[in-house]
Amino acid sequence: MRTGCLVATRERAAQVGEELGVGEFVAHALEQNPKRVAVIPIPTDVRNLVAVPADGIGDDPGKYRKRIDEAVAAVKGLAVRDAVWCLNEMPAPEPEPGVPADAHWKTRHALGALSAALYRYDEHKSKPSPDRGIARVAVLAEPGTRTAVRRAVRDGSALDAGLSLARDLANAPANVCTPQYLADAVSELARLDNVSVEVLEEAQMAELGMGAFLSVTRGSDIPAKLIAARYQGGSESDAPFVLVGKGVTFDTGGISLKPGAAMDEMKFDMCGAASVAGALRAAALANLPINVVAILAAAENMPSGKASRPGDIVSTMSGQTVEILNTDAEGRLLLCDALTFARRYEPCAVVDVATLTGACVIALGAHASALYANDEDLGRQLAAAGRVTSDRAWPMPLWDDYQEQLKSNFADMANIGGRPAGSITAACFLSRFADGLCWAHLDVAGTAWRSGARKGATGRPVPLLFQYLLDRAEEAGKAASAP
Ligand code: BES
Ligand code: MN
Ligand code: ZN
Repeated sequence: MRTGCLVATRERAAQVGEELGVGEFVAHALEQNPKRVAVIPIPTDVRNLVAVPADGIGDDPGKYRKRIDEAVAAVKGLAVRDAVWCLNEMPAPEPEPGVPADAHWKTRHALGALSAALYRYDEHKSKPSPDRGIARVAVLAEPGTRTAVRRAVRDGSALDAGLSLARDLANAPANVCTPQYLADAVSELARLDNVSVEVLEEAQMAELGMGAFLSVTRGSDIPAKLIAARYQGGSESDAPFVLVGKGVTFDTGGISLKPGAAMDEMKFDMCGAASVAGALRAAALANLPINVVAILAAAENMPSGKASRPGDIVSTMSGQTVEILNTDAEGRLLLCDALTFARRYEPCAVVDVATLTGACVIALGAHASALYANDEDLGRQLAAAGRVTSDRAWPMPLWDDYQEQLKSNFADMANIGGRPAGSITAACFLSRFADGLCWAHLDVAGTAWRSGARKGATGRPVPLLFQYLLDRAEEAGKAASAP
């Protein structure tokens, strides 16, 4: 059978060249290309060799991933249908001190890179570009690593499905991706084993006293939805991991209207919600033996005669009151009520995910999400999950000193804390609704999508969230089998 390409280290590529009777030709091509990923077309059943330099990576897992991304880019450029992946023999740095980069980790990264490179969103092109992507990849597993590689393929495929859902939802424009659209998409997850979905309408939210949540949607003609998906992979009595996502399907700023430049990107303001749906899908597809709930707080933030005004005071489901000094700080108004709602699940941990502040982009750029936690273990676990998946999150402080910026003369708190430390004061606002919960907050404003020529959703932090859940599932498995 003919194979589109074989992806291997330079050393292995040379050896394969010898075995296929084109050794000299391959050696010459490698000489021409001493440092970079080289694509070598050869007249054999294997049509191309993609030769990857194994050196110069040092101890930075990020550099390893970059090298893998280069290899995948070369494969993509070939427009072949299938590939044999022999890169697991490339040495890789420890993803965590003391944790070896094993076949499972390497395979996961290979699949992650392929999934990121091959993803396309042509839903709204009248002529979709022809499919030139890889349809099949075989991973060469060294003896003794087959189980690990198989497990990595299972986990990697589940993650890929979760990522695709997150990216598809986020890339859809706001005239398509409304709160109702999100509710319908999440309702489809109920077809998976052990998944059930509940959608709350505005009237039900009003009954629960969600005055902050409802103040955001007031200016919009499109009804808000509170969407809750449950995956029951553990036993009935296991406390669930609850993920809460900001789902602002379009953020104009409301009466505190945003400037026009790049406002189209505010269709991505529901990336947090999309990511918690994606993580739940991945957990369900991987059949993790734990319970997970994903809550999507979905609403549109519009200016109109019915919209909230600066200075309006609303009361939250928790009973605390909020003075809305800026209607563009709407994410925290949705999330504070969604966090209070999350208590009904008696969670073992709550993680909210939100494209919450422009200040987060100023602080960390596109490389890391901001990580806040009121529980040290939870913070550590999430940071570790981010490092292992190259979907990094960086710890930020929740010190009381910052809480003072939220003082209001007229209500229990204001919804903004002024310009200094904007991502932190937003997190401090949320922390007031997480009392007694084991809680963390990820501000993904810089990481959830890319601007510019490659504008589009990244699917982050689905890899981090899924890894966090995988790690908890593994712990649960160990505890269950302990004597
Ligand atoms: N969705 C935005 C945050 C955002 C802006 C993310 C730009 C990514 C890029 C959020 O709702 C918002 O508008 N936040 C305000 C808060 C401010 C009014 C305190 C912001 O960051 O300017
Ligand atoms: Mn806003
Ligand atoms: Zn927003």
